[in-house]
Amino acid sequence: MKILSAAGVCEVSLWDSDEPVQREELLRGVQGAHGLLCLLSDKIDAEVLDAAGPNLKVISTLSVGFDHMALDEIKKRGIRVGYTPDVLTDATAELTVALLLSAARRLPEGVEEVKNGGWSSWKPLWLCGYGLSGSTVGVIGLGRIGMAIARRLVPFGVKRLLYSGRTAKAHAAEVNGEFVPLDTLLAESDFVVVSCSLTPETQGLCDKAFFSKMKNTAVFVNSSRGTVVNQEDLHEALTSGKIAAAGLDVTTPEPLPTNHPLLALKNCVVLPHIGSATYSTRGIMGALSAQNLLGGLQGTDMPSELTF
Ligand code: GLV
Ligand code: GLV
Repeated sequence: MKILSAAGVCEVSLWDSDEPVQREELLRGVQGAHGLLCLLSDKIDAEVLDAAGPNLKVISTLSVGFDHMALDEIKKRGIRVGYTPDVLTDATAELTVALLLSAARRLPEGVEEVKNGGWSSWKPLWLCGYGLSGSTVGVIGLGRIGMAIARRLVPFGVKRLLYSGRTAKAHAAEVNGEFVPLDTLLAESDFVVVSCSLTPETQGLCDKAFFSKMKNTAVFVNSSRGTVVNQEDLHEALTSGKIAAAGLDVTTPEPLPTNHPLLALKNCVVLPHIGSATYSTRGIMGALSAQNLLGGLQGTDMPSELTF
């Protein structure tokens, strides 16, 4: 906000709340705007673009993900898009590692037992989980974030790092990553980490067939987008012992209703989409999205423009 006002090139109309803007408010507020700064919780579709009208030149999202925007409609109207890759990679990778360890080593269960008196004594097999040392880790989508996750996991003593995706990546050499078919990754990994973007190909990728190919001692982790997972199938895999545990930073919907069956499971750790939530990362994302917006408004370079 400070950056935008200081630039003196635009009038700013701000939804001044931490809560998401109501749809009607967005449709009203966007009318006639030349630029729009939005969040991943704002669905930017034809209706919003039509409400904005022909002035709209740029949309800047405070996220690396852009699945909430109808890119075909945006392209048709010649609107530029800014987003925030790179600056949130480390924070998101760090959170994913924390989530993996929480699910694998059963941290939330342990914390709960300490609080509710379930901790009676030290017991040899009580709250045992799975460790990274000597394990095989599979990363689905070895992009910027996937690679940052791999780089952090390898020093835990990971024996093999497998990855799958559309193509083999030259940067995988740094973590001795082996490019394998998805089925091989699922069959051989002790930890399956999803770090791909949400696209028509990855939507619902993690379904019954997917989980059935995993080891029943394996831990599943997703910090990309909720709809990559079929949650009913995941629930079934977790309750039937098809897989050992899951850690999710993203769900469908967000927030997940408090009575959702996944939340009743001890072997499922669910976080409220906090991958990039460090003070410094969110600050940098805010500044970058403001700079992207300004570049779009002024018709100059945007520091992080999405090509689509
Ligand atoms: C977070 O999920 C983002 O897309 O930035
Ligand atoms: C995808 O989210 C990436 O940055 O790798």
